[in-house]
Amino acid sequence: MMSEKRVTFATKLGVIATAVGSAVGLGNIWRFPYETGQHGGAAFLLIYIGCILLLGIPVVLAEFIIGRGSHSNVSGAFRKLSPGTGWHYISYLGITAAVLIMSFYSVIAGWTMEYTYQALIDSFGSHTPEEFQQDFTAFTSSPLRPIFWTFLFLGINYVIINRGVQNGIEKYSNVMMPLLFLLLLVFCVRSITLPGAGAGLSYLFDPDFSKIDSSVVLGAMGQAFFSLSLGMGTLITYSSYFSSRTKLVRSATTIAAFDTLVAVLAGIIIFPAVFTFGISPSQGPELVFITLPHVFQQMPGAYIWSVLFFILLFLASLTSTISMCEISVAFFTEERKMSRKKASLLHISACAVLGVLCSLSFGVLSEATLFGRTVFGWCDFLSSNILLPLGGMLISIYVGWVLDKKVIRKEMTNNGELRTRLARILVFVLRYIAPTAIILIFLGGLGVF
Ligand code: PHE
Repeated sequence: MMSEKRVTFATKLGVIATAVGSAVGLGNIWRFPYETGQHGGAAFLLIYIGCILLLGIPVVLAEFIIGRGSHSNVSGAFRKLSPGTGWHYISYLGITAAVLIMSFYSVIAGWTMEYTYQALIDSFGSHTPEEFQQDFTAFTSSPLRPIFWTFLFLGINYVIINRGVQNGIEKYSNVMMPLLFLLLLVFCVRSITLPGAGAGLSYLFDPDFSKIDSSVVLGAMGQAFFSLSLGMGTLITYSSYFSSRTKLVRSATTIAAFDTLVAVLAGIIIFPAVFTFGISPSQGPELVFITLPHVFQQMPGAYIWSVLFFILLFLASLTSTISMCEISVAFFTEERKMSRKKASLLHISACAVLGVLCSLSFGVLSEATLFGRTVFGWCDFLSSNILLPLGGMLISIYVGWVLDKKVIRKEMTNNGELRTRLARILVFVLRYIAPTAIILIFLGGLGVF
């Protein structure tokens, strides 16, 4: 009854572009370089790619099968496919993760808005390296300004999410993602001709295996889930709008490939610059913000590049947060019969409250830590490294062990139209490999080995 009302994505490009819009965002351009920098470089990248192939793509497919197999929101999906069981509780995990992620994510997206503004008023041009750092610290530690941007960002999300699936999301993704990609390519060319390019590239691509420990592996797995928007039902929700002709395997691999490519491109831009300008690769969350303005300074037409880049980064963040909202909105409208307006207001208000605490973690609350993490640190760690992999594990166990094999076959073959042997392999990976790997990485992260 519900499926009649549900819209589907209008074009084939729309399917990929929207899912890529969710996947590509601050996770690739902000989080990937700083996580790589904090975990020692190339070895992290290698494990990260391993996680994408072994866990990421299979779990993306699992979410697609659940989503398109049910044409429903996260909770409704499990209820429809396995009535009378407790699997639908996964949706609470997903909504919690969505709120946690969106809270700290909106703070960083707010930073990109400040930087867009700074780029527009041309304040990067004459800065020395020390000034970039000082300005950044002054801005992020101030109590009001970053919160203003966070709220503005959340407000924009509210407006867009109220315009519905097709016009709201599809339109933006289709134009912006290719543009962002082109821009990154241009910056790559600039970065690899900087004097520190050799050192930067070898940091990113020449692995030092002695740097691998359990925290590196846990971090890489968390980053893989975060970057693919995986383990909390985003892709279940999005694929519930897929048409019956969308090829799931091809879509999953395209999304994963594109997402990884963007992250690697970001690394190729950041690390040569880090080594050229004497910045520490393990700087943390500010890495991108203090490094990139240097790169722009070295380019003819710096003004236009920096304006364009920060606008696109802001828009890329927006397509990601919209997908986070969509989890709650689909849930509350379809399961709790709330209006779209009310549902998005609920989600966004929760993010606003938590977002304030996350923002203040860089200023007055920077000393308020628990086991060495601030509120911001906890929101990030808990969601990326714990909740998403946990959700991914449950989803893979569900599809591997519980879900009717007919549904899997039907979705993998588009109702018998495609021939594929992959369904069998997928079930094997989802049954045995993915859950075991995730548990082992968890135990490693807890220090059991
Ligand atoms: N994948 C997004 C990014 O890389 C973040 C995200 C995580 C979006 C989880 C939705 C769900 O920026």
